[in-house]
Amino acid sequence: YVVGVDLGTSAVKILLVDKQGNVVKSVSKPYPLIQEKTGYSEQNPQDWVDQTTSGLVDLLKDFDGDVNDIEGISFSGQMHGLVLLDGDNEVLRPAILWNDTRTTLQCQQIYDVVGEKRLLEITKNPALEGFTLPKILWVKQFEPEIFSQAKTFVLPKDYLRYKLTGQLQMEYSDAAGTLLLDVSNKEWSTELCDLLELDSSLCPPLIGSHEEVGTVTAEFAAASGLSPSMRVFAGGADNACGAIGAGILEDGKTLCSIGTSGVVLSYEASEDKDFGGKVHYFNHGAPDAFYTMGVTLAAGYSLTWFKETFAPDESFDSLLAEIGTVPAGSNGLLFTPYLVGERTPHADAAIRASFIGMDSSHRRKDFARAVLEGITFSLNESIEIFRQNGKKIDTIVSIGGGALNEDWLQMQADIFNANIVRLTSEQGPGMGAAMLAAYGCGWFDSLKACADAFLQEDKQFQPNEEAAAVYKKMFAVYQEIYGQTKELN
Ligand code: XUL
Repeated sequence: YVVGVDLGTSAVKILLVDKQGNVVKSVSKPYPLIQEKTGYSEQNPQDWVDQTTSGLVDLLKDFDGDVNDIEGISFSGQMHGLVLLDGDNEVLRPAILWNDTRTTLQCQQIYDVVGEKRLLEITKNPALEGFTLPKILWVKQFEPEIFSQAKTFVLPKDYLRYKLTGQLQMEYSDAAGTLLLDVSNKEWSTELCDLLELDSSLCPPLIGSHEEVGTVTAEFAAASGLSPSMRVFAGGADNACGAIGAGILEDGKTLCSIGTSGVVLSYEASEDKDFGGKVHYFNHGAPDAFYTMGVTLAAGYSLTWFKETFAPDESFDSLLAEIGTVPAGSNGLLFTPYLVGERTPHADAAIRASFIGMDSSHRRKDFARAVLEGITFSLNESIEIFRQNGKKIDTIVSIGGGALNEDWLQMQADIFNANIVRLTSEQGPGMGAAMLAAYGCGWFDSLKACADAFLQEDKQFQPNEEAAAVYKKMFAVYQEIYGQTKELN
């Protein structure tokens, strides 16, 4: 067996996976967000450690095998969160998370000092509020006493792994989201540190996702019930692990993952493409590979907002039951999902959502369908950027909440104009983490071989020509709405 730990934003999910890739047991343990002010989003790193320990205890409670047969553990983690540590590796302040938006001025400062062009050359990404570097600059500016005690920083799952093993490292796919990594050369950028007057010794040693860190400490073994000889592998960013867990491990493979936020992500074998910072470009969890990614902030969140506002007493299933009877294009109704701003391609925290084209004949089912179409159009803007840069996208694996409804899967095929694949059993980033441990333990020669053994295709959804033509026309209008509504706020 191996264990995959997915350290998410609302909970830690732990999977026990056997040699055939079956999930034998899974456990989820929640922890709170601390939101002291608008735009602030923090978490207490000790909560991650306590809930992971307690989750492992539950996982092993009625495990009837031998705990020594659990050979390895690895991790997937929420990206970008800043965990600042002192000289004794003690946490100096609550972690500032990826969805914290207090750092707009620090992003501007990065552009002013480094220049947009040079930042893109080194990090391959723009300065966004969610990334780690602006958070470090915020603490330096507003909490100088705390900052003066900081000796190093890590990301959420790297901190958790440190508490399990006593070894402190940061893993590449997550380091790519700090905005301090030279992504092409896989090394910290001392140039960026110097320009921004940060001591480069703050940056911890780097390690690859499937690389072995050591074993769990005797103390953690006793607290969790794991064997002290269990091998620990570094793990990856949640999006990298989501990609591994969906088999996005060679050129031509693309993922659509719709949860609270939505992601489209495409494998890149090399670092030499230039997307001009319009989409993210990060190191993959697969050795020496990369991926490009576009993010829609309010994907599933838009649907949840719609349900809570207009159908609070109904289930999602009953809200969506009739959308199949509404034709593609929702009878002319169009939605943009900018309820909390937008990440890709506009990187605009202030833009807000809209419904346009309302007709007196429209009913709730038209609106429900329009919401799903708007979310999918938003993700299609990133797919278009991939295609404009020469990527061939003809098949997309769909996972998460967006893969639970067949009408939505067909809509994805029609809007993306690509075949959509649904997997038989889909466990998200936790499975990717388990696969990193399985590969690290030597069960397979490559992550790809592990994916071939663990993942099965369930069904394909092919684009319908007529619907695709309607959507192509509507998408052109969709793309105009951003520019036309920008000044509303
Ligand atoms: C990616 C991002 C989110 C987090 C969620 O850039 O900010 O997807 O990784 O955990």
